Amino acid sequence: MNTLKTQSDDYFQKNWEIYQKVVVNNYMEHREFSSALYNFLNDYCQTPFSLLELGCGDATLTVQALLNTTIASYTGVDLSGVALEIAKVNMVQIQCEQTFIEDDISKVVEKLAQNQKQSFDVVMTSFVLHHLSLAEKDKVIQQVSHLLKPNGVFVLIDTVLKKEEDREHFINRYLENMYQNWNALSSQDMLMIDNHISTYDFPESQTTFYELAEKHNFVDFKCLYKDTIESAQFLCLYK
Ligand SMILES: C[S@@+](CC[C@H](N)C(=O)[O-])C[C@H]1O[C@@H](n2cnc3c(N)ncnc32)[C@H](O)[C@@H]1O
Repeated sequence: MNTLKTQSDDYFQKNWEIYQKVVVNNYMEHREFSSALYNFLNDYCQTPFSLLELGCGDATLTVQALLNTTIASYTGVDLSGVALEIAKVNMVQIQCEQTFIEDDISKVVEKLAQNQKQSFDVVMTSFVLHHLSLAEKDKVIQQVSHLLKPNGVFVLIDTVLKKEEDREHFINRYLENMYQNWNALSSQDMLMIDNHISTYDFPESQTTFYELAEKHNFVDFKCLYKDTIESAQFLCLYK
C-alpha cells in the first residue's frame, strides 16, 4: 500500500472542510497570492505558455490567477485523488489543454525531467514544499531547473522563516496568530491545524531557497509578495 498517498487522501478528506474555511476567510492570503500570480503571468507570459503545478490541491488559487491569461497547457500534480477530482471541476472554466497526475511531486519531477521532451515555461507550487525535508526540497528545485525552458520561471509560494528564525519560533508565532485571529474556526479545527503544522511543517528561509536556486543554475531571484505577518512569500526563481 502507498502509505504516503493513503495518508494524503485521508488528510485531505478529514481536513478539507477546515482548509476551505481557511481559504474562504483568506487567513493565508490566498486572494493576494492569487492576484500576485495573475499580475506576474500577465506581465511575464504574454504568448501562449505551459504551466506545471506541483501539489495543486483543488487548484482554487491557480484557477483565479489563470482566468484571462494566455495559458495553453496546464499539468496539475497532487498525491490526493480527492483533491484532483475537485481541481478538474474547478479548472473547467480555463480554456487550455489539461493533464492531472496523481503522484508524489518528488517522483513526478524526476520522471518528467528524464523525459527530455517535456519542458515548461512556468513551474509553480503553493503551500506544499514546506512538507518536504531540506534534501527533498533541494532535489525538487534541481529537477525543476531541468524541466524549465530557457527563460522559464519557478514560482514558489510558501511559508518562509524570517532572517535568523528557527522552526520552533516560526511555528509558535504562526500558531499564536491563528489562535488570535482565525475566528471562523472552532477550537477543534484549530487543534487539528496545530497538530498538522507542529508535525509536518518545515519552512526554510528566503536565503536558503535562493542558495538552492543558485546551486541549480537559476540566474535571478525575486520576492513579489510577502503576507502581512511575514510568514509566507511569493518567490520567482528565473532560469
Ligand atoms: C496546503 S495544500 C495546498 C493546496 C494548494 N496548492 C493551495 O495553495 O491552496 C497542500 C497540498 O499538497 C499536497 N501534497 C503534499 N505533499 C505532497 C507530495 N509530496 N506530493 C504531491 N502532493 C503533495 C496535498 O495533498 C495538498 O493537496
